[in-house]
Amino acid sequence: MKILVTAALPYANGEIHLGHLAGAYLPADIYVRYLRLKQQDVIFICGSDEHGVPITIAAEQQKVSPQTIVDRYHKSIKESFKKFGCSFDNYSRTSLPLHHKTAQEFFLKIYTRGYVYPKTISQFYCPECKMFLADRYVIGRCPYCENDKARGDQCELCGRWLEPFNLIEPKCRTCGSTPHERQTTHYFFKLSEFENALKTWIKEKSHWKDNVKKFCEGWFAQGLEDRAITRDLTWGVKVPLPEAQDKVLYVWFDAPIGYISSTKEWAEKKGKPDLWKDYWLDPKTKLVHFIGKDNIVFHAIVWPAMLMAHGDYVLPSEIPANEFLNLEGRKLSTSENWAVWLPEYLNDFEPDPLRYALGINLPENRDVDFTWRDFLARNNNELADILGNFINRVLVFTHKNFNGIIPKPAILVNEDLEVIKKIEEIAQESGELIEKFQLKDALKTLMTLPALGNRYFDYQAPWTTLKTNRTRCQTTINVCLKLVASLGILLEPFLPFTAQRIANMVKLRSKTWDSAPNPEFGPDLGEVTVLFRKIDEKIIEVQLKKLGSKKQTQPKENKMEVTLDEFKRIELKVAKVISAQRVLGTDKLVQLEIDLGTETRQIVAGIGHVYPPESLIGKNIVVVSNLQKAKIRGIESYGMLLAAVSDSDIALITTDKEIKPGSLVS
Ligand code: MF3
Ligand code: ZN
Repeated sequence: MKILVTAALPYANGEIHLGHLAGAYLPADIYVRYLRLKQQDVIFICGSDEHGVPITIAAEQQKVSPQTIVDRYHKSIKESFKKFGCSFDNYSRTSLPLHHKTAQEFFLKIYTRGYVYPKTISQFYCPECKMFLADRYVIGRCPYCENDKARGDQCELCGRWLEPFNLIEPKCRTCGSTPHERQTTHYFFKLSEFENALKTWIKEKSHWKDNVKKFCEGWFAQGLEDRAITRDLTWGVKVPLPEAQDKVLYVWFDAPIGYISSTKEWAEKKGKPDLWKDYWLDPKTKLVHFIGKDNIVFHAIVWPAMLMAHGDYVLPSEIPANEFLNLEGRKLSTSENWAVWLPEYLNDFEPDPLRYALGINLPENRDVDFTWRDFLARNNNELADILGNFINRVLVFTHKNFNGIIPKPAILVNEDLEVIKKIEEIAQESGELIEKFQLKDALKTLMTLPALGNRYFDYQAPWTTLKTNRTRCQTTINVCLKLVASLGILLEPFLPFTAQRIANMVKLRSKTWDSAPNPEFGPDLGEVTVLFRKIDEKIIEVQLKKLGSKKQTQPKENKMEVTLDEFKRIELKVAKVISAQRVLGTDKLVQLEIDLGTETRQIVAGIGHVYPPESLIGKNIVVVSNLQKAKIRGIESYGMLLAAVSDSDIALITTDKEIKPGSLVS
């Protein structure tokens, strides 16, 4: 069976934040990675949603063209997804000509089949801005909750979907004028005709989550109305009719078609341009849309109706929609910067601790709260103390006492067999949970394995049997290593970077879910590194400070300017490295003694993975010499060394020729 998994196409009008990740992208990635380990025929499709009012408004706010906005954010969203480990088979964008063509063909097909008709309606028109005010271009008071900043398409406070005419005291969001009504012609999709077909179709989905079914029932109760699928805008996919040259398709009409065009692009890149048809044209394909709950109506009602109207394509099988993620007890709000932005997170931390903290607390059935305190506790107490500790102690023990060679087991006693049986049971159980989209429970189930490993290790006390009963010790370590290797497989969907490191450390050769109880690995171990670093309590305050503060909307390329005076406050000096040694237990940190002309100082720098400590001795470096003292891993560091940093490399800044230590750099 072919499985086509999608995650909602994010608007390319800003960065990805934790709410997006917990809502759709992380669960989708976990699910897909699991299916790949199960050797299923699965593809994972996504891309940027580059049309619609969200884009043009961002462009107006930042005083650049919509094209600049989508180019900027498409690139940066794609990059941060990659760093977070989102393993899309294709990440496309809806500004591609291929997408425009696909969306226009889709429109024409349902138009010729009679499911689209023109109708003249009145719409808000701003006399000042001389434009029709589509969707979010109108703001006003919400008729349900009195929020006076409700948008023409939705009230963010109470979540209700609105039409511009529902708003009380409507205003143009650009200039504040009161709009007039004016006649315009739009194309309507006959959604009402699909009411019965949709009801029957959804009834078959008895296993769907309550949130999706309840939501649809609510819509059916009101009765489905035809919907305008065009807008009077210039940014978007042009309506492919000669009489409608000045109109574009409504973004919610073209965006889901992006799932198809992204699959087409994937097939083209593979050199098999027809391969997309194997997925979309086969009614047996399992089409799975991961979304957040604010997208339910479009994926569970409008989009399936569009697909029914078109007639050629498979309908969704599953729509696992998540609830919302709140942040530190408050609803996420991008306009108030009450959000944690993925690129900023990734500047400070590794991806896996976040995948874990979100994964173990996914908003599957209710809204959940993300707090930095919980993040820290999960990292320190669960990842470092339980998982990391188990793996580390087993591997270090093997290196120390068996020269890093996997010891052969002797006779297996009950306790050993129990561990092995547990691996099998848990692989089975968590796999079933993942297939049912109960990812949070699947992860909790998996995490019982390292806890079990620690108990077994403690109880078997291999450090004692090493002296009293060596074959017993060998068996214990063999069983422990087997468990480590299985974790290198089973944790992959959730913690892909960690799983890869485990796999390298035990030289894992089998990478299928079903081989987890009997992993092929060894015969010896690779280099052992620490999997998780503990995070200092101090980060909580630092991160909390960022929340709600004004976000810098400027792009990275033109960071905030500083005055010459401000720059001059930073004292840069040449120093000569006198001695250098690696900070014990780290692969990155080096402790340096440096000569600053008038004094010698100690600094700690994170360059040890690129520069072996001994290669640094005698080098001239440049340091920020008036930086406040800091303690790094308990070692005092006074000053900061300068280096150029790219994604994968570091280059030390040195002087072009010999010059006296202590010389000012200016
Ligand atoms: N861009 C929309 C959002 O962020 C989601 C679009 S999903 C698609 O809410 F199906 F339309 F692609
Ligand atoms: Zn206006």
